[in-house]
Amino acid sequence: MNTIKYSNRLIKFLCNRSDFHGLCRKTAHLFHEEQVHWRKKSFSLSRHFRTTSQRLDLNDKPKVERPRAQTTIDEEEIKRFSALAQLWWDEEGEFTALHTMNELRVPLIVNALIEQKQKTGAESHQFKAHSQLEGFKILDVGSGGGILSEPLARLGAFVIGIDASEENIKIAQAHVIRNEEVACNIKYICATVEDLIESEERSFDCVIASEVVEHVLDAPMFIKACCKLVKPGGSMFLTTINRTNLSYLLGVVAAERLLRIVEPGTHNWNKFISPQDLQYLLDHNGFSTRLVHGMMYNPVTKRWSWTENTSINYALHAVCTDQALHVDGQT
Ligand SMILES: C[S@@+](CC[C@H](N)C(=O)[O-])C[C@H]1O[C@@H](n2cnc3c(N)ncnc32)[C@H](O)[C@@H]1O
Repeated sequence: MNTIKYSNRLIKFLCNRSDFHGLCRKTAHLFHEEQVHWRKKSFSLSRHFRTTSQRLDLNDKPKVERPRAQTTIDEEEIKRFSALAQLWWDEEGEFTALHTMNELRVPLIVNALIEQKQKTGAESHQFKAHSQLEGFKILDVGSGGGILSEPLARLGAFVIGIDASEENIKIAQAHVIRNEEVACNIKYICATVEDLIESEERSFDCVIASEVVEHVLDAPMFIKACCKLVKPGGSMFLTTINRTNLSYLLGVVAAERLLRIVEPGTHNWNKFISPQDLQYLLDHNGFSTRLVHGMMYNPVTKRWSWTENTSINYALHAVCTDQALHVDGQT
């Protein structure tokens, strides 16, 4: 409750600032144009991205086939992340928000995986704080410099971190090598999810794509490939940004141009995706969504907190049902 109050106060504070006001006015026209452009562009995709209230039967094929890209890589995005590669481990720099996001996402992942293990009853889980994730094989997609891969490996998981940027992979490898104990639990590869399907199909207990969906070229293709890599009963964790007016104002205008939390140009609002659309894609690939939590960033404390409000950042956990294997042949 306090978190929501605090978040609302923060939003009000930002909205009352005169410079922010001016900027809002200037960007209002641009935003309107961008939305009109996006609506036209997304018209043909709308049959793919239906809200959960309009969910289709899984056998109902989309009536309009959309052109499929061969890759999920957006070259411009990868160039931008490669140029920032040296900054991954500067905790007070460009990637501060990703470092502090670990305070929310690591416990979320750990708790859900332990619960999953207990539910399947495969083994009774002995609580060992330093090796809570022992026995889990995790894929961290778009692992960047390894900010999330490392703590998960430190908790005992075997983590494969993949990233489309060679520079990011080199930085991640160089960083983990300093810690022998963690290094033996991590393997970093310059690759995409589509590259991995042939050799690793259905082989991970858990696939994570944290702050990545909003940077890929083809979200449906990306999600489909991620889903194929999860074992039946395994988990998928995603964190990303909702496509709302507020996410444009706070996630793009305020975060990039006003508060400089991240470099201008880091985010393209057109690539943001609502939790409903993401859930639709997951459903269609045989996953059942277990939770969607909003996340709020406080630019003053540089810390994240959970909120019921999913209109900007959110985290989603979904589980692969056995039906996924059945659906795969039909899509
Ligand atoms: C915002 S960063 C997130 C890094 C990391 N997941 C974290 O939260 O600390 C996005 C990362 O995704 C990578 N990326 C973007 N598109 C990708 C794709 N199609 N396949 C693999 N990696 C991709 C980028 O190179 C970048 O390192």
